[in-house]
Amino acid sequence: MQITPLPVSPRAAAVHRGVERALNRVVRTRDRWLERAHLGGRRAKYDDEHYEFVGGARDALRKKHYDKSLRLLWKAEAAAPWSSFRDQTEAERQLSAMALRALTPDERSARERLRGADFRALLDRTYTPRQKQAIVAILSAIGNGEAYAWLVSASLLGEVQSTGGKAALTAQVLEEAKHFVVMRELVEAFGVPVPRQSAWEYVLFEGILRARGVQKLFGMNIVVETIALSIFGLLAELPGLEILRLFHLDESRHTALPENYLREFPLSRWQRRNPVQRLGRFVMALPTLPLIGLLEEDLAELGVDAFDFGGSVLRKVVRLSERAGFDLVAPGPILLRDLNALFNAYCKLTRKEHRFRDFMSADTTRDAESAAVERAVFGAGTA
Ligand SMILES: [Fe+2]
Ligand SMILES: [Fe+2]
Repeated sequence: MQITPLPVSPRAAAVHRGVERALNRVVRTRDRWLERAHLGGRRAKYDDEHYEFVGGARDALRKKHYDKSLRLLWKAEAAAPWSSFRDQTEAERQLSAMALRALTPDERSARERLRGADFRALLDRTYTPRQKQAIVAILSAIGNGEAYAWLVSASLLGEVQSTGGKAALTAQVLEEAKHFVVMRELVEAFGVPVPRQSAWEYVLFEGILRARGVQKLFGMNIVVETIALSIFGLLAELPGLEILRLFHLDESRHTALPENYLREFPLSRWQRRNPVQRLGRFVMALPTLPLIGLLEEDLAELGVDAFDFGGSVLRKVVRLSERAGFDLVAPGPILLRDLNALFNAYCKLTRKEHRFRDFMSADTTRDAESAAVERAVFGAGTA
């Protein structure tokens, strides 16, 4: 290739190089010393000498989370034609139109009914006002969690190490943003008043957002995401709520992130074992217990026992925590046994003819597709 170079002053170029080298020494030495003195230092944990973030490439994390997220990326326009989202590309839109033409006339009109006002009419026809209220109370509780999941994953972006780790978190930030905005429209479509965030959620989510470093991964990706995943698996089989299967699939990937990340960057023995951190995790998760009690009325309206739901969530939380290396206040089986005793004591107080039950072996993921996804995440016989 023929390129004609332009003349430059060799002297000016040498001065530039010299000034840059001197400044480079000054800023890097200053930041190194500040870091050693624990007074700050370079803000970006970026290793420009290797063109990599501190922590290395960690392509396995990138492939398992970022690449997979993009492969499974879903568009609200296709999955929720009743919503205001217009996020499909022209090619995707044409593909959807072709798929629509291939449907039988009955299937096509069923699909077209899912637009705007018709979707609301479907919800009105299918559910009683009290059932709609119960679904909205449960979904909006998760919607508030989505808002915090968005903020927590964005705040973790600066804290996780490696290019793969940051790519994984970036995918989660995008998905939580999508969950929050799509969930808002789904909740609004029910046309009933949306309750405010409960005090237990307030305390739970604020505590997680304030937690330090990877403790956030325990609070958000293990505790909150497992609650969300379980709610989606519970409701996805209901008419009009099929889109929750897509949320469920994303959340199942998010619940696997702590284990995958901490396999690359294991917690130190001190981080795992020290009583302050273990107690901190327990306190962080504690508001979920009264939250289960608060949701009892609405879950019962949908034919679900809140303590079966709670047991199913806690079993999964304990399993994910142990696999990621977050030691809890007591070994898993003992913790579950004690929590089961607590649930039974509460039910004995509040329910007529309550008989001792093992709530911890319950599973409330009713949707078959979601149950299959959970079996892959939690192992056979657990989901
Ligand atoms: Fe989410
Ligand atoms: Fe999530």
